[in-house]
Amino acid sequence: MGAEQQATAVRSDESVRPASAGSVQSVHSVRADAPGTATAVAHPNIALIKYWGKRDERLILPRTDSLSMTLDIFPTTTRVRQAPGADRDEVTLGGKPAEGDARQRIVTFLDLVRERAGATHRAVVDTENTVPTGAGLASSASGFAALAVAAAAAYGLDLDATALSRLARRGSGSASRSLFGDFVVWHAGREDGTEEEADLSSYAEPVPTGPLDPALVVAVVNAGPKDVSSRAAMRRTVDTSPLYEPWARSSGDDLADMRRALGRGDLAAVGEIAERNALGMHATMLAARPAVRYLSPATLTVLDAVLGLRRDGVAAYATMDAGPNVKVLCRNADADRVADVVRAAAQGGAIHVARPGPAAQLLDEDG
Ligand code: DP6
Repeated sequence: MGAEQQATAVRSDESVRPASAGSVQSVHSVRADAPGTATAVAHPNIALIKYWGKRDERLILPRTDSLSMTLDIFPTTTRVRQAPGADRDEVTLGGKPAEGDARQRIVTFLDLVRERAGATHRAVVDTENTVPTGAGLASSASGFAALAVAAAAAYGLDLDATALSRLARRGSGSASRSLFGDFVVWHAGREDGTEEEADLSSYAEPVPTGPLDPALVVAVVNAGPKDVSSRAAMRRTVDTSPLYEPWARSSGDDLADMRRALGRGDLAAVGEIAERNALGMHATMLAARPAVRYLSPATLTVLDAVLGLRRDGVAAYATMDAGPNVKVLCRNADADRVADVVRAAAQGGAIHVARPGPAAQLLDEDG
């Protein structure tokens, strides 16, 4: 794919631009310029209020609302082309044929898109992730967001941002949030109505913020594959952890506090709430039977360094996902200092510095 390609077919909606950012574009709607083929780009997001637990595994409906920051690093680019006459979907990840569960999740997702579009042709799907291997940045979020935008366009579905977010959710819950830039909330959706009402009401949307100018320092302390997938760990936690229900309840309070902190541009409060929400999520896993423990000794060393930064008056707060790697939220002005301290603590682990990133975009094939 050429660098000359321009993002054209996704219109941005200035009216929802959060006050904090210059880079955000919110997807308004997607339409394929060249029906049959489409390419999209999406960025990963890191949750500050975590999604941990489903109430519906098939529709991927979460137990709780969650809130994230989209990053400006590690985009995923996905091209989908309808392949008339092919008898199976051809899926490559980084130039290599996808296999096993990774392939099956993509084919199942394409089946959903085809069902909605009334289409039957198989597809050729090429995905390029720029995330360094094992960086601990959920590539399923950027991956399914890019796939949703590209597949919808390639199969001629004209979907608005809300519908694209709901579609991406069916691939991976956190992907619903990567449709949008900057800070994003994903609504768990209605629990008191029909299945269709629940599905329609569970989507992500941008969260307006006061002036924040944040950075997220990513410390990769272990690049190896995880023993337990986040999907399996989430299920086990909901099914067996006595701490799950209390965390889910308190996460609702965290979200309300977080919205207020974001609204007034209070980075220290944002970080404090994010850190307590993440530690609480890991506590639910530690109490699962058997326990799921993603945090390693190296994780705790970085957490100590973050505490040290705070003792020195630097607003730095940690969050961890389904792995040992640590993401440290801080002021952009403090990012270099935080990165230095975290680098020393991470003992050779790679450090990446991210800022708020853009919404998912459809690229113009013709440039
Ligand atoms: C810890 O979105 O990867 O990163 O819906 O089963 O695909 P599935 O799960 P996924 O889970 C992400 C979990 C998390 C927290 C978060 O991103 O909110």
